[in-house]
Amino acid sequence: MKKMVEKFHIQNENEKAIKLEKLTLGVCYYPEHWSQELWENDLDRMLEHGIEVIRIAEFAWNKFEPHEGVFTFDFFDDFLDLAYKKGMKVIFCTPTATPPAWLTYKYPEVLNVSKDDTLYRHGQRRHYNYNSPIYKDFTARIVDKIAAHYSSYPSIVGWQIDNELNCEINVFYSEADHKAFRVYLKDKFKTLEALNEAMGTVFWNQTYTDWEEIYLTRPTVSDSNNPHLSLEEKRFISHSTISFCKLQADIIKKHISKEQFITTNGIFGHLDSHEMTDVCLDFMTYDCYPNFAYETTIDPQKVGILKDRRSSWGLTRVRSISPNFGIMEQQSGAGGWDTRMKQPAPKPGQMRLWTFQSLAHGADFISYFRWRTCSVGTEIYWHGLNDYSNEPNRRLEELKLIYADINKIQQIVGSRYEAKVALIKDYDNEWDGEQDKWHGPLADFSDDAWFTAAQLTHTPLDFLYLRNSDAKKTTLEDLSKYSLLIYPHATILTKDSALLLKAYVNQGGTLIMGARTGYKDEFGRCPMRPMPGFAAEICGVRVNDYTNLGPVDESEFAIWDNTEIEAPIFNDILEPINNGKVLAIFKGNYYDGAPALVVNEIGNGRAYYFGAGFSTQTAETFLKKLGFAEPYSEILELPKEVELAVRSMNGKEYLFILNYMGHDMEINIKIPMFNLFTQKIISGTVMLEKYGVIVLEKA
Ligand code: GAL
Repeated sequence: MKKMVEKFHIQNENEKAIKLEKLTLGVCYYPEHWSQELWENDLDRMLEHGIEVIRIAEFAWNKFEPHEGVFTFDFFDDFLDLAYKKGMKVIFCTPTATPPAWLTYKYPEVLNVSKDDTLYRHGQRRHYNYNSPIYKDFTARIVDKIAAHYSSYPSIVGWQIDNELNCEINVFYSEADHKAFRVYLKDKFKTLEALNEAMGTVFWNQTYTDWEEIYLTRPTVSDSNNPHLSLEEKRFISHSTISFCKLQADIIKKHISKEQFITTNGIFGHLDSHEMTDVCLDFMTYDCYPNFAYETTIDPQKVGILKDRRSSWGLTRVRSISPNFGIMEQQSGAGGWDTRMKQPAPKPGQMRLWTFQSLAHGADFISYFRWRTCSVGTEIYWHGLNDYSNEPNRRLEELKLIYADINKIQQIVGSRYEAKVALIKDYDNEWDGEQDKWHGPLADFSDDAWFTAAQLTHTPLDFLYLRNSDAKKTTLEDLSKYSLLIYPHATILTKDSALLLKAYVNQGGTLIMGARTGYKDEFGRCPMRPMPGFAAEICGVRVNDYTNLGPVDESEFAIWDNTEIEAPIFNDILEPINNGKVLAIFKGNYYDGAPALVVNEIGNGRAYYFGAGFSTQTAETFLKKLGFAEPYSEILELPKEVELAVRSMNGKEYLFILNYMGHDMEINIKIPMFNLFTQKIISGTVMLEKYGVIVLEKA
């Protein structure tokens, strides 16, 4: 009898975080892509390079069910026997991202359909829909067979459901989806009258008289659908995705032991990944490809100043779900399909830099994509650690260095990213903004600016998602961890969220809100009430007039004390109410001299309302003027070009300083600290080499 699975993830009932005993390296491996003769050598060389975990099988449906109803496990049995012999741990995946040709040929209703009714054919991946009863049956059966067969395999430490749910495509218009949408709406609104009211169907005679008349959005004149129904469609897609994930999770759970975890990988559109993690998973993993910043088809102007450093955005996002998380796919080579996405090879040092970027943000498990570059198929240019030739190369050399360096910082395992400032986000506003051209681009612009400003001023930043579901309701305690919360454009702001924010300010927090706050309800309708709706009382402000800044408008500014700050994209012209006080006035339009920034004191805290979008310059000014920028300036002096991230645990702080530049950068360490890589105390002026990283321990 083989011994049971080696301990890897320690179950943690209280939170959705990965919990490991040590920082661990893994790799994505596809035994089905290679001749069996290569397996042993591959596994040996992985282990030599410090790789202890492999992820397998996520596209291999045919290997288990080569024909409908015919199941065989020999292929992966052989592989798992070898993996066990070698002591390799395995994350086993369900193969539902790629239904086989026999299935889609016989049951084309399982396929996804575009908005204009074109059937997506076999040939790529993610070609299925989540609501087809037939696909759900096939899914349930294959997952059940696989989990029943492999759950007791001693090398399997965990399970990945599907692969990148909602990647590549996140809209679904098959017949099954339209039908399921009607069921979802009926369940939610109960009567057609309530639905018509919520969806504002009185406008342009859209009133429904039968549930069968309702469809997901379809092609319309000017491609302009009912905005309230469009928002509901996104909620429905998220609901469908989570139900599909839960279908699989519930089956897997019936078979596996407590020692094995369930996860999935990546964060994609139209999916409440927080809710999905709460109802289906033990923790979330993320796929991290910083090299997208250097894709050759991207306009360099549009990449933004952070470039590969901006992948810290995705890491911040996954951290808001799982404070410690795994990276299921970490970039290890040039990227590209034969049809798109031409990425250069990572420069020497960048693979190490990006690995430490993930670690800096709270990853405790890093699995590279992929062991060897595939020699067939769409992804022949998506490079892994090995080239086609399988000969030694510089990326494998760099991996050795990474492994050695990771072993020097093992004490950080389980430590948490430390931030006193958070950007508030929520899915309703994200999805509403996709269709609303007044709201979405403004919100995207400001989110990006706040993130950039925090990066450039070395102000560690979290994202905090406002939640209101059965699985999780955001509490005052969640908010109180932060000294500053920024909720740039909460266009949809419910009374409950407003009460929570008010309580946060009252107990001493600082809150910043921006233009277009609070004028919509949960269905994206604009109720008859003064703006900014429920935020008025928090911010002590009333919006008297407002305008989108058109292309012929001069650039708009606000004067705050003697500082001129940018007031871009949209302006709310303000009037203070109750205890609100004007801090800045507009300069440069017909409302010259009118209030642009109002502050309101409530209890021990304050709330600011800025009647504009936030540029990076504006956001930086806020952080500096309110005293939140550079919180580590007493111990570190850093140039803008480097990122600072801090993880802490048991009273110790671990400071990660990352240089994204192709040249050395000077940093100043103002007090003696312990350099974990050199194991020496260090202070004073230090040159951080190009693409270099330093991890300092502060007692
Ligand atoms: C991810 C995906 C992998 C692989 C990789 C490179 O999105 O999960 O399977 O496709 O990208 O394209």
